[in-house]
Amino acid sequence: MKQHFIIFFMIFLAIRVEAQENSRYIAQEIKYNQFTPGEIWYDTDGNPINAHAGGILFHEGKYYWFGQIMVPGNGGSDAWVGVSCYSSTDLYNWKNLGVVLSVEDDPSHPLTRGCKIERPKVIYNASTGKFIMWWHHDIKGQGHRNAMTGIAVSEGVEGPYEFIRVFRPLAEFLPSNIPESLKDKQPDPLVYTFPFTGGSVPNHPDSLLIFKRDLHQGQMARDMTLFVDEDGAAYHIYSSEENSTLHIAELSEDYLGYTGKYIRIFPGRFMEAPALFKRGSQYYFIGSGCTGWAPNAARSAVASSIWGPWEELGNPCTGADAELTFYSQSTFILPVADTTDAFIFMADRWHPENPVEGRYVWLPVQFEGKKVALKWHDSWDLNHFKPIR
Ligand code: DGJ
Repeated sequence: MKQHFIIFFMIFLAIRVEAQENSRYIAQEIKYNQFTPGEIWYDTDGNPINAHAGGILFHEGKYYWFGQIMVPGNGGSDAWVGVSCYSSTDLYNWKNLGVVLSVEDDPSHPLTRGCKIERPKVIYNASTGKFIMWWHHDIKGQGHRNAMTGIAVSEGVEGPYEFIRVFRPLAEFLPSNIPESLKDKQPDPLVYTFPFTGGSVPNHPDSLLIFKRDLHQGQMARDMTLFVDEDGAAYHIYSSEENSTLHIAELSEDYLGYTGKYIRIFPGRFMEAPALFKRGSQYYFIGSGCTGWAPNAARSAVASSIWGPWEELGNPCTGADAELTFYSQSTFILPVADTTDAFIFMADRWHPENPVEGRYVWLPVQFEGKKVALKWHDSWDLNHFKPIR
C-alpha cells in the first residue's frame, strides 16, 4: 500500500514538473506583436511581467519600464523586493533587467523590507547625464499616512539606483496659485482633528486649508507621476492634502529637488493616479477618483500651460465598463517614440487580495475635438496609430 502511494506520488510529481516545463516552454516561445489589455503579459523569459504602477522612459532607442514588484498574498503590494526594470525596442516584448532599486535588510533604513515604494517613475537629466527615480514612499507599518516622496539616482538607466532620501515636499513654500487673502490665513482648527480616511471617502472641505496645516512639515505626496517638458523643465504631479487636491511642482535643474514653485489643481476633487502628457501645445491630464484599490471612473483635463488653468473634460472612457476605467487605474501616458501624435494610456488592473496577479491595461489615446477618448480593445497594435503617424 505504502509502495503504491509512493509510486502514485512520484508519477504525479513527474506529470506536474513536465506540465510546468511545458507551460514555461510555451511562454518562452511567445513573441508578441500586439497588446492584449488585461491578459497575463509574459516577459522574454516566460515569466509574467512584474512592474505595477509603472512608468516608461525612452532612452537611446530603447524603452525602459520601471514598476513596483508585487508579491503574492495579503500585503503583497508593499515593497518586499523593490523596483523592477524591463527593456523593449518594440513595446510588445519586454526583457527583465532585474531589481534596480532594492529594499534594505536594515530595519532603520527607510527602504526596509515591507515599506511602501509606490508608483516609481524615472526621468533622464540631460545636463547631469543621470537617471533619477522618484516614488511615493510610506514608512513600514504605518499605512499610507506619512505620504512621502522618495528619490534615488543612477549613472546608467539600468541602475542600480542609489537611494538619496525620503521626505515631505516643499516645506515652507506656499502654492503660487492661491489668492492673496489665503496667504496669511491660518488653517481651520478642525483640520487637526478631522477623521481623514486617506482618500476613499471624499468628504472633507477644501476650506480646512490642509496645505497650510502642512506648511512646516511639507506637503503630503501620495500617487504621483513625473513629466518632462520639451524645454527640459520637469514636474512632480502628486495627490496631496489628504488626497483631496493635486499639486504640480517644478523640479530643480538637476531633478533632485524642487525650485519651490508649485500650484494646487482640482481642489477638493479627490483625484489620484495622475498621468500627464503634451500634445502640440496642449497639456493633458488623466487620473482617477479615490477608491483605494477598487476601480472608478477616470478623469481628464486639458490646459495650455502646465500652470493652468486646467479645464476638466470628464471621463475619457466610453463603452462597456467605462465607469470603471475598464477595471483599471491610470499610471502613465507613454508618447510613442519618433511619432508626434501617438500616446499609450497605461493602467493597472489591481488584484488587492493577491497583488502579484495584477494585470496591465494599455490602450491607445484618441482625440475627439479637444477631448481625449479611451476605448476598449481586446487586442490592438501600433498600426492603430498609422493613419496619424
Ligand atoms: C490607490 C492608489 O492609486 C495606489 O497607488 C495605492 O496607493 C492604493 N490606492 C492603496 O490603497
